[in-house]
Amino acid sequence: MAHELPPGIQDVFGRVLANLRISVTDRCNLRCHYCMPEREYEWLPKADRLTFEELERLVARMAPLGVRNLRITGGEPLLRRELAQLIARLARIPGIEDIALTTNGILLADQAEALWQAGLSRLTISLDTLRPDRFRKLTGQDRLSATLAGLEAAQSAGFAPIKLNMVVCRGSNDDEVESLLEFALEAGHELRFIEYMDVGGALDWRQEQVLSKGEILERIAHRFGTPEPAPTPPSAPAQRFQLPGGGRFGVIASTTAPFCGTCTRARLTADGWLYACLYATQGLDLRKHLRDGATDEQLTELLTAGWTSRRDRGAEERLAQPAREASVDREELRRDPHLEMHTKGG
Ligand code: GTP
Ligand code: 5AD
Ligand code: SF4
Repeated sequence: MAHELPPGIQDVFGRVLANLRISVTDRCNLRCHYCMPEREYEWLPKADRLTFEELERLVARMAPLGVRNLRITGGEPLLRRELAQLIARLARIPGIEDIALTTNGILLADQAEALWQAGLSRLTISLDTLRPDRFRKLTGQDRLSATLAGLEAAQSAGFAPIKLNMVVCRGSNDDEVESLLEFALEAGHELRFIEYMDVGGALDWRQEQVLSKGEILERIAHRFGTPEPAPTPPSAPAQRFQLPGGGRFGVIASTTAPFCGTCTRARLTADGWLYACLYATQGLDLRKHLRDGATDEQLTELLTAGWTSRRDRGAEERLAQPAREASVDREELRRDPHLEMHTKGG
């Protein structure tokens, strides 16, 4: 479709605005150890959650500034009622070319078909283990079969290729790097190995638990032959690789080799705060402006001012820390749940 929209606005370092990650709820039906290790969480008030109308209005203001790709995240986005309706509304906005969703897959079996019909283009499913007992240990729920059923339903609905996200943690699931890759290659899914990140929420993060991109590639080489770099879109977090016997996979090396220099993404929390970085501690309270009656022009001005003054390079700054540990502590997270990975949208 030929939309006559100008190219994206640029931040201080010339990075163009192109992607928006929208968290539609901060709640989740799992408790992955690397994201939500606590027993109790303070949830965002329901009344603060942006409505579908408010989300549609914001995206319609951001498309002319450059946003082409949306990614719907959570918490667990499929917990948001009538999500397919939101997808259908966002898909109609001029300039929006691609809508993706990242889910843990548990509720996907029932929703895959409706999401496909609504115009969802791409799907990523988090899958850290293929062992039921380990799934329970790592997520707090005995639901591996539900995730796998969701994956199958998504494939039947038409999503292809489906991306699988595996956060690799030494001592927890790193012995499954090879078996998960085998599983993905056989089924035709694109597996991405993600380095364990010291983002807000990852309270138990320790450097020793990070299996680096280099180590991941070594293990794969040992079993499948040396992977060769494959063409990768310039601003994608995953670097793609090709195996000598055929088959591809990706590695997201946010912890040891950050890609802040090419980061084109903004993120919106379920209660309408806009952040320019996963590690940002300051955001823009768009809900307040929306509910105080801001005009479209005023919203455009705010969004433009926010992006054009952006200097964030969160993951690179973390890498420069001499002794790295969890990026925020428990007390800070209690004071501001917006710092949580599950609130910022993963
Ligand atoms: P596409 O490139 O559209 O396929 O999406 P994606 O790979 O960004 O989506 P996904 O939700 O699967 O993100 C995968 C992982 O990349 C996340 O879990 C994070 O670990 C990492 N990631 C996503 N966005 C950012 C970001 O802005 N900064 C950093 N450092 N890491 C990110
Ligand atoms: N490190 C790396 N990835 C993480 N995710 C959540 N927490 C972390 C972390 N500490 C990922 C999940 C999911 C995505 C939304 O975010 O695996 O794929
Ligand atoms: Fe796991 Fe995602 Fe839920 Fe965090 S938000 S607990 S990563 S499914």
